[in-house]
Amino acid sequence: MPAKASFGVNTGTPNNASNPGRASTEVITGTSTVTSHAPYASKALDPLVTIDRSSLQRVIAVINGKGGVQKTTLVANIGGLYAGSGYHCLLVDLDPQGNLAEDLGYTDTDNDDSGKALAGALAFGGTPTPVTVRPNLDVLVGGYHLNAAAAALTNMASRDSRAARLALAEILTPLAANYDIILIDCPPGNEPLQAAAVAAARWAVVPVRTDQSSRKGLLEVARRLDDVMDVNPGLDLLGVVLVGVGSSAHRIKQTARDLISEALGGDQRIFTASIRHSEATAQAAREKGLLVHELDEQVRQGPSWWQIRRGESSGGNAGPRTAQSVADDLQALAKEIVDSITVAEEGVPV
Ligand SMILES: Nc1ncnc2c1ncn2[C@@H]1O[C@H](COP(=O)(O)OP(=O)(O)OP(=O)(O)O)[C@@H](O)[C@H]1O
Ligand SMILES: [Mg+2]
Repeated sequence: MPAKASFGVNTGTPNNASNPGRASTEVITGTSTVTSHAPYASKALDPLVTIDRSSLQRVIAVINGKGGVQKTTLVANIGGLYAGSGYHCLLVDLDPQGNLAEDLGYTDTDNDDSGKALAGALAFGGTPTPVTVRPNLDVLVGGYHLNAAAAALTNMASRDSRAARLALAEILTPLAANYDIILIDCPPGNEPLQAAAVAAARWAVVPVRTDQSSRKGLLEVARRLDDVMDVNPGLDLLGVVLVGVGSSAHRIKQTARDLISEALGGDQRIFTASIRHSEATAQAAREKGLLVHELDEQVRQGPSWWQIRRGESSGGNAGPRTAQSVADDLQALAKEIVDSITVAEEGVPV
């Protein structure tokens, strides 16, 4: 097993990246490596199940009980940026909606088993094989099969809550040594799956909008984290990310920061980087199955406005110019996350 890359102080170049954060847009499809889990063996409940937490130190759950706060967008894009920088990254799509497939462009390809392998492993044990969707970027694929897994975990929890909550931690333990970082995309609802996510994670990253109901959602997240402290005492909040903010609304951002800090009981763990609102960029990225920095690259390679004006090019459908700003926001956040983990790994409190 390769040793994990040291994050160092800068995010940029752990291995050989000459242009960090500008990943290749190549999409590897058609080579499913999902192993079949049929016939399933019934998972034996083991009340003494112990997890080797040392292997799960770089597992991050991106969580918020509220829907549509960019959990999936962050997991896909931050993971893509790390992979493009040379880190070997695993994404876990724990959402029955399976939206990560859209952001990464593998919907309905051979890679997309709609969560069957992951659901089987959660319910009955075993280790699903991640699929590779970009160089350095692997995914445990999610989708509608996870509804059945959630039902199985609820059933299991009624007999053994510890085993149910540790189901994902068990799956990730043998896989984790292969990766520098693992990001989990949590569903907006679905308590058993959310509990499994945070019970597997060392860190929680919480995206929030700046409105009041989103801030209230933070209390629910805090409850989720509390619910697994007995099986995962090392779990901690890495930070809150403000999403959907206006690009120039500095005062609003500061007010939102203050209010969020207040909602967190004075906790200052709010990332400096925030993600600006750009529907055009988000829509184009998801439609094309491209990450935002990949879309940005496509825009840069597209014709300039004067070429279009002179009729030298039709302009095609390269994408919106705002992609660059959103890509910069995501890159700043990716760097801050790694910086925070580095500080923690070097023994300085985050
Ligand atoms: N910077 C952005 N500006 C505006 N809209 C965005 C931005 N990034 C993503 N979106 C859009 O916001 C919507 C919600 O994003 P996303 O699916 O990542 O949220 P989520 O928290 O994962 O949602 P769910 O709770 O349903 O899983 C999507 O339609 C996405 O395309
Ligand atoms: Mg989502």
